[in-house]
Amino acid sequence: MLLFLDTADLDEIRTARSWGVVSGVTTNPTLVAKAGHRDVRAFLAEASHLVDGPLHFEVTALDREGMVREGRELASVAPNLAIKVPCTEEGLGACRALAEAGIPTNVTLVFSLNQALLAARAGAAYVSPFVGRLDDIGADGLGLVKDVVRMYALHGIAAKVLAASLRHPRHVTDAALAGAQIGTMPFSVLRQMVRHPLTDAGLARFMADWERLDAR
Ligand code: G3P
Repeated sequence: MLLFLDTADLDEIRTARSWGVVSGVTTNPTLVAKAGHRDVRAFLAEASHLVDGPLHFEVTALDREGMVREGRELASVAPNLAIKVPCTEEGLGACRALAEAGIPTNVTLVFSLNQALLAARAGAAYVSPFVGRLDDIGADGLGLVKDVVRMYALHGIAAKVLAASLRHPRHVTDAALAGAQIGTMPFSVLRQMVRHPLTDAGLARFMADWERLDAR
């Protein structure tokens, strides 16, 4: 499973990139608003250079024509842009139009198997089941990821399963074991994944032993 960062914070992108583990970045309107980017094109231009892989950015129009117009404009800013559209009737239509124009799309806000099937049939390059938000309402987010992976394999569907709304390291592990091709997560989750108390303790002991040798 490839690891994507779910953020609109340029410093987080820079730091995670320096670890050499990030294959792409996803954003959403909430994250862009939180980061306070008023000039979206400037943000996209800068972020697209920092990302080794695709940068997923979401349209905010709600109608098909508006989404397609916005998607085309955004995609013209950088060659590595993928356009996120919501899983609605209008969003599916926009997905089809953008796909036919050669612009990769990510159908987002997917909460059911039928939505995942529709997204793939609309030509989505990526389909994003939201794990945490399903768990929030007592449903089984990872169960959905597992089933989408199985359904796509069964029918030879090429759309990539991008597990989103991953809230903690266990979500990441389970999404990988479920067969998602990509998992996107906040910077805090990526950082939690690096850490282990035994790594810290082991390193402290190695360093202490090394210093003792120096002292002799
Ligand atoms: O970008 C979509 C996504 O990952 C949202 O996560 O935690 O707001 O449900 P969350």
